[in-house]
Amino acid sequence: MSKPVKVALLGCGVVGSQVARLLQEQADDLAARVGAPLELAGVAVRKMSRKREVDLDPALLTTDAHALVTRPDVDIVVEVIGGIEPARALILAAMAGGKSIVSANKALLAEDGATLHAANKADLYFEAAVAGAIPLIRPLRESMAGDRVHRVLGIVNGTTNYILDKMDSTGASFTDALEEAQSLGYAEADPTADIEGFDAAAKAAILAGIAFHSRVTASDVHREGITGVSASDVASAKAMGYVIKLLAICARSDDGRSIGVRVHPAMIPRTHPLAGVREAYNAVFVEAESAGRLMFYGAGAGGAPTASAVLGDIVAVARNRIAGTRGPSESVYADLSVHPMGETVTRYHVSLDVADKPGVLATVAEMFSRHDVSIQTVRQEGRGDDAQLVLVTHRASDAALSTTVEGLRELDIVRAVASVMRVEGDETP
Ligand SMILES: NC(=O)c1ccc[n+]([C@@H]2O[C@H](COP(=O)([O-])OP(=O)(O)OC[C@H]3O[C@@H](n4cnc5c(N)ncnc54)[C@H](OP(=O)(O)O)[C@@H]3O)[C@@H](O)[C@H]2O)c1
Repeated sequence: MSKPVKVALLGCGVVGSQVARLLQEQADDLAARVGAPLELAGVAVRKMSRKREVDLDPALLTTDAHALVTRPDVDIVVEVIGGIEPARALILAAMAGGKSIVSANKALLAEDGATLHAANKADLYFEAAVAGAIPLIRPLRESMAGDRVHRVLGIVNGTTNYILDKMDSTGASFTDALEEAQSLGYAEADPTADIEGFDAAAKAAILAGIAFHSRVTASDVHREGITGVSASDVASAKAMGYVIKLLAICARSDDGRSIGVRVHPAMIPRTHPLAGVREAYNAVFVEAESAGRLMFYGAGAGGAPTASAVLGDIVAVARNRIAGTRGPSESVYADLSVHPMGETVTRYHVSLDVADKPGVLATVAEMFSRHDVSIQTVRQEGRGDDAQLVLVTHRASDAALSTTVEGLRELDIVRAVASVMRVEGDETP
């Protein structure tokens, strides 16, 4: 057995405490798997006095994270602090000293992964940054390195999936479902990062960069949250055999020259594998040229599930250090650009409150056709003041659909454009 591999842990909160616990409780198994003991060298926190969810030798705790990551005897630095600073500065200081890095920090990797990759001298592993326990980064980076990915469709935020699932199964409003999610601990007191899609957008950027061998940052991602999804949108989707999910979608353009990266609520058929992802679970559906369709499913958050992914990375980078090697570095050779949302091509579900009189359908259909958006199905619902037209289009560009919707708003016979939602996962042309 080789000499101990020393691990510095930055952060001992929800995830960090579980990483520390597993390092201690599974020490013998981990040593056997790595070929050397994994020794906790120190744990950096903000407040020494805070109660921890793990029994730790108090001598390991420190508030001087910088001193810990620059200690010459430390081999691996595990960053589970979160946020941009001081996490970035600490990782860069550790990299300068040749340490291997394991991080769960999606915000930092999506905003400034390039700086970290450029400074990296050993390993930078971040399996836990996307979808908690679910193995995704290494499958995409390593197992699928011989394939060509066409599209990645993911439910990568448990809070929003819980809210949308409650709205679907009980008919609850968005506000009521959010309150329930908060009372059960699935949503934070300030739920903005989840419900406005920021968290999912960071994950989409990371997934797109890896899947398409290109550099993608959070600011490249088109982002819409779920606050505008109403109980009637959910009911309308249900009536048509669809369910509404907040999806992170990374896809090659039809000509293969660019990629689209977006996060927004979308309708998917109830028969699609992602439709069965309930409550706070996550899943990512990958479509690749040779592998076909793959789905990765599991717990997207939580201390122990996320720590499982962190531990997997620690074992991997420890093995690399002992072997005197490193894992694959960032692959951005394809250098595909992210196209504007207007160039995204998909299908749309449009609900219109309309006047209840003859000729309405023809006028509405003419507006779609004027902008080259072809209608696949149309349904008329209600009468009088409740008259509605519900249309589903064939594939069209987002720009064409937006101009169509602007035109519809101008029509006297359209009282309101009640909702516009993209339809995904149903490949009818
Ligand atoms: N929670 C999840 O389910 C989950 C899932 C996937 C990924 N992640 C990612 O994992 C990371 C950690 O999340 P978390 O939920 O474990 O966060 P958390 O519970 O808030 O824990 C953060 C830890 O970092 C410490 N810390 C904060 N600022 C520090 C500083 N300047 N120096 C030293 N320590 C500092 C805190 O110390 P004190 O305890 O003393 O305040 C705390 O122990 C984030 O990047 C998050 O996105 C979390």
